[in-house]
Amino acid sequence: MGEHKPVLLKETIEGLAIEAGDVVVDCTVGLGGHSVEICRQFGNKIVLIGLDADEYAVKQAGAKLQNCNAAVFTANFRDLKKVLDELKVKKINRVIFDLGLSSWQIEGSGRGFSFRRDEPLLMTFSSQNQGLTAHDAVNDWKEENLEIVIRGFGEERYARSIAKKIVEARKIRPIETTGQLVEIIRFAVPNAYRYGRVHFATKTFQALRIAINEELKSLELGLEQAFEKLASRGRIAVISFHSLEDRIVKKFFAGLARGKKAWLINKKPVMASEAELVLNPRSRSAKLRILEKI
Ligand SMILES: C[S@@+](CC[C@H](N)C(=O)[O-])C[C@H]1O[C@@H](n2cnc3c(N)ncnc32)[C@H](O)[C@@H]1O
Repeated sequence: MGEHKPVLLKETIEGLAIEAGDVVVDCTVGLGGHSVEICRQFGNKIVLIGLDADEYAVKQAGAKLQNCNAAVFTANFRDLKKVLDELKVKKINRVIFDLGLSSWQIEGSGRGFSFRRDEPLLMTFSSQNQGLTAHDAVNDWKEENLEIVIRGFGEERYARSIAKKIVEARKIRPIETTGQLVEIIRFAVPNAYRYGRVHFATKTFQALRIAINEELKSLELGLEQAFEKLASRGRIAVISFHSLEDRIVKKFFAGLARGKKAWLINKKPVMASEAELVLNPRSRSAKLRILEKI
């Protein structure tokens, strides 16, 4: 399974300015990249609460954080307030959102996140998911809705043609795998696009994943609840990987700053250094924004 290198690790931890006694919440604990380093630096001086929607990630992170003052839970961060209320945690001091997927989920979860593999069309963060899957989307959704999602969440300029070809293909036989979907997209886009710098299926896959997991709605809900639970002088750090996510974070932070409820630690988002870009190409699109509650 592909190793996941935590992105903007030093910048995030420095920017959070963690202090002894803090309750730190990692809303996307993943395989523990950020949390393990926080535990290494602050040990039992802090309390760490980790969440992830993915059961496998929670198990892995839990094992790595055994020697810290940490508790890790399977939960969606859109339910952050409920999780904290159940734990009887009234206030939190530092919060991390490192959005999107871990490398292992793309490469090794078998849930259809990668257009480079032939896997069942799930695209769900949770392996126990009983709800909507990418299979439902491509086989059941109306053509207009597929087009709206692929354009809106993928910013894919060939959304219309891709949606049309998906609907044509499923009339012949159900679309069961990522491999089938990639072939449909291949025939829906112009030749030059097939050989472009960015793989021609990237945006459609991104769009379906965002829609299936309601990622943008979850982000809005997670940010609101994190801020509500945040103590005065507490900080929230968000690492986003595409413009739709970053727009939500930027707007949310700017609104709080305008209302004099918070101030922005960095006026502009922090991006990966040249050195990190060489070691971890995934950091190329990462943007870190940090805010402090007044
Ligand atoms: C980029 S990875 C985090 C990696 C982690 N910071 C590390 O360095 O190991 C994002 C993680 O967030 C989880 N995730 C995404 N959206 C989520 C949500 N709404 N609620 C909970 N977890 C979520 C994914 O399952 C994934 O494990």
